[in-house]
Amino acid sequence: MGNARILRDVIISGLCLALLSMAMEATTKVTSQPFGKMPDGTPVEIFTLGDGAYEARIATYGGVLVSMKTPDRNGKVTDVVLGFDDLAGFVRNFNGTSDAYFGAIIGRYANRIAHGTFALDGRKYSLPLNNGENSLHGGPRGFNNVVWKAKPIANGVELTYLSKDGEAGYPGNLTVTVRYTLTKGDLRIEYSATTDKDTVVNLTNHSYFNLAGDGDILNHQLTLHASRFTPVDAGLIPTGELKSVDSTPFDFRKATAIGARINADDQQLHLGHGYDHNWVLDRKGSDLEEAAELYDPRSGRMLKVLTDQPGIQFYSGNFLDGSIKGKGGKPYALHAGLCLETQHFPDSPNHPDFPSAELKAGAHYHTVTVFSFSTR
Ligand code: GAL
Repeated sequence: MGNARILRDVIISGLCLALLSMAMEATTKVTSQPFGKMPDGTPVEIFTLGDGAYEARIATYGGVLVSMKTPDRNGKVTDVVLGFDDLAGFVRNFNGTSDAYFGAIIGRYANRIAHGTFALDGRKYSLPLNNGENSLHGGPRGFNNVVWKAKPIANGVELTYLSKDGEAGYPGNLTVTVRYTLTKGDLRIEYSATTDKDTVVNLTNHSYFNLAGDGDILNHQLTLHASRFTPVDAGLIPTGELKSVDSTPFDFRKATAIGARINADDQQLHLGHGYDHNWVLDRKGSDLEEAAELYDPRSGRMLKVLTDQPGIQFYSGNFLDGSIKGKGGKPYALHAGLCLETQHFPDSPNHPDFPSAELKAGAHYHTVTVFSFSTR
């Protein structure tokens, strides 16, 4: 009896120790430091989330994922997102004519709203235009272009921003919280929001990935769990059709090199200047599901994108033309990086048959996307 009790106690304390060390292992180191000042003097901080070989750095300006370091199959660590070394680089780009939204949180409405207008509860709203005759990524001063409040949380950072009623043309005071957490190779982004008036919301992250860390992404192999996509017009506004990807260059249901068909003679590819479309995810339910997988055969790096959202915009960096000098002064040439933006479909407020992006007064918006890095 006595021996059995001793044995039980030994097993229990062993288990406790194992659990404790697992918990300690799972704790990501979170630190912050000044990243510079906005032109009006507002200070900007940068948070560093480190877990072993993985490290994410997030700025309070635009909630930008400034860098994401991940190991390759031999353990060599490289930054796999595009951007700038300093705050000034982001501020200049986000306020210029070739705004590329590197790494930023996009809102209030990610992607395009046709003619910058939509109707809600019988009222018409007009948004400032910043993309030809359309509104793109929340307009000229979107969530990428403001300084967020921040505090450290377990394994990450919590950012908050109050978008006031009427700001950028949208109705309702919208309180937004974005939590970035890193555990091993999983960068989890959790978006929440509440409003005091009915409004529309579509939040995403606009990171440009290049799993090789340099060159272009044409040899990256992409899988998209989507049987349909939303074809666009010349302004990249969905026509409303949900088109089958069958026998088109848009079929990524099996891993395919991005460069394999990007120059095919296809009207949709011509309109997008490459891939710049929303795919309709084949969802089983409403929880986190794998939407995409990106693999770089050279480095062995892999990125899985999991989300609860209905769509994903795959943008193959078609507007990069070498004129933007990024990290280390490197010019970002055509297809230097690609975006996988989990989202509601573009222009949903004008498409009643698309999943609704409306947020009712008092209701909670909540969505999660995980960028899961590993090697193969
Ligand atoms: C993407 C969008 C592209 C382009 C890019 C920024 O999200 O789909 O058309 O506007 O942002 O350069």
